[in-house]
Amino acid sequence: MSNVASAHQQTAAEWWRTAVIYQIYPRSFADASGDGIGDLAGITSRLDSLAALGVDAIWLSPFYVSPQHDAGYDVADFTDVDPVFGTLEDFDTMRERAHDLGLRVIVDIVPNHTSSEHVWFQHAVASAPGSPERARYIFRDGSGEGGEQPPNNWESMFGGPAWTRVHREDGEPDQWYLHLFDSSQPDLDWTNEEVRVEFDRILRFWLDRGADGFRVDVAHGLAKVPGLPDYLPEGEVDASMGGAAMDHPAWAQTGVHEIWRRWRAVVDEYPGDRILTAEAWVKPLTRMADWVRPDEMHQAFNFPYLITGWDAAALRDVIDESLTAFHGVEAPATWVLSNHDVIRHSSRLSLTVPHPQGQGIGPDSPGLPDADTAVRRGRAATQLMLALPGSAYLYQGEELGLPEVTDIPGEARQDPTWHRTEGERYGRDGCRVPIPWTADAPAYGFSPSGQSWLPQPAEWAHLARDVQEGVPESTLTFYQDALRLRREHRLAEGDLVWIEELPDGVLGFRVGGVTVYANIAGEPFDLPDGEQILASSPTTGTLPADTTVWMLR
Ligand code: NOJ
Repeated sequence: MSNVASAHQQTAAEWWRTAVIYQIYPRSFADASGDGIGDLAGITSRLDSLAALGVDAIWLSPFYVSPQHDAGYDVADFTDVDPVFGTLEDFDTMRERAHDLGLRVIVDIVPNHTSSEHVWFQHAVASAPGSPERARYIFRDGSGEGGEQPPNNWESMFGGPAWTRVHREDGEPDQWYLHLFDSSQPDLDWTNEEVRVEFDRILRFWLDRGADGFRVDVAHGLAKVPGLPDYLPEGEVDASMGGAAMDHPAWAQTGVHEIWRRWRAVVDEYPGDRILTAEAWVKPLTRMADWVRPDEMHQAFNFPYLITGWDAAALRDVIDESLTAFHGVEAPATWVLSNHDVIRHSSRLSLTVPHPQGQGIGPDSPGLPDADTAVRRGRAATQLMLALPGSAYLYQGEELGLPEVTDIPGEARQDPTWHRTEGERYGRDGCRVPIPWTADAPAYGFSPSGQSWLPQPAEWAHLARDVQEGVPESTLTFYQDALRLRREHRLAEGDLVWIEELPDGVLGFRVGGVTVYANIAGEPFDLPDGEQILASSPTTGTLPADTTVWMLR
């Protein structure tokens, strides 16, 4: 076999090293049934538009049986589809259509916890302390006289204590169970082999059904420090990583790695180069790289990149750190700006005062972005990201230039963060509003009935996909062009070489034969001669702030 052929085979096989993966948030993508909540049949009906966008794969947030207390991240049955989203047959139809269109299908798996409606938890509550049923979860006696205090001082990521007490059938108070998230999401005990075996089964179930891989929820949380000691931070708490402090006994413990090695072995049993992607809010990047060592996962979301502000020096640092850390373990760097847990990046990068990750923004939040700046900056940030070597993630709606929705009325909000903090934190509903397809259809074409589980803003008609389609200056066309050029110029496979001595606030680098300039916050920058192949906003000979350009020169 010639070198050229083997190099090509290597690239084709390891598709995930350079892939653009589009996150579908099923509740908010497309609703075929008309109940106001998106579903699998809706996704199938819209897959053409994603193929036309030019992405390589889709990742679906959970669509499994769930009471939906945390929008499906509270799973009651990991191997069936919730009726709200359809049936297993709908999944098969969707996967088949995606594969026909050349799109791989990644599904979400949620191993840190189950729903409190999962049969295991129901049995655990009905069983005695010390029973095998309770041993699948993390039940402990309370502290204090009579056990009326939680076993330790840990807090839920959504606010309030991370422990809830159960009661016996006769009403007497009993043990407490741990839930790092909502009280409807009890944590599993991953030291229990029965839990491990069950998840091997769940992985195989979806692999057998043709899933191309898994996005692994809370991949930094499954192993807790034995004895579950109180969290006693030294100095100021740094909870910047998705709200999780890195010195907390629940997060980023080394015990998770044997689980990922076990999972990697399962996934590797299957043909077709299937993947595991870690949702691991871990820093620094050198530590996150442990999640993607050759025998663990394939990718980890680059959250340090996501939380970096619109600042040239900070961006250059995090890009360098990412390439060094991921390449140090032979993994591809990944890049991501938006997902269903964070303020949409166009709005987030344009806030004039910083907002801690996980708090969300509402109508009275200080420093709300100016709409024009948000569009410009969002596009500039995307174009910078799509030039970086490695794999990139997009979140539904960013290709339409959707902003974060800030004015959702309190009574319509659904995120447990909003409810558990009694409105102190807005949470994540603002990035989850159903997306607009057709300007003059009910619910902008999201649902035939005009219903929408979160209200859509009255002024979204001009952002609908149909009015952007084929319009040269639209954000949709910009994303299509960026993805096509990224592929044509093989930017994702290239080595990045910085251009030095640029003015303050301007970044420049070469990659795959293309020169990239991003004016983050500098004075207008005189561009050198060369052909511009893509600009995030119109440019003449100078590059204004909040603009990225790709050039051939
Ligand atoms: C991370 C998910 O992305 C988020 O939406 C969810 O609330 C938590 N994990 C708990 O599963």
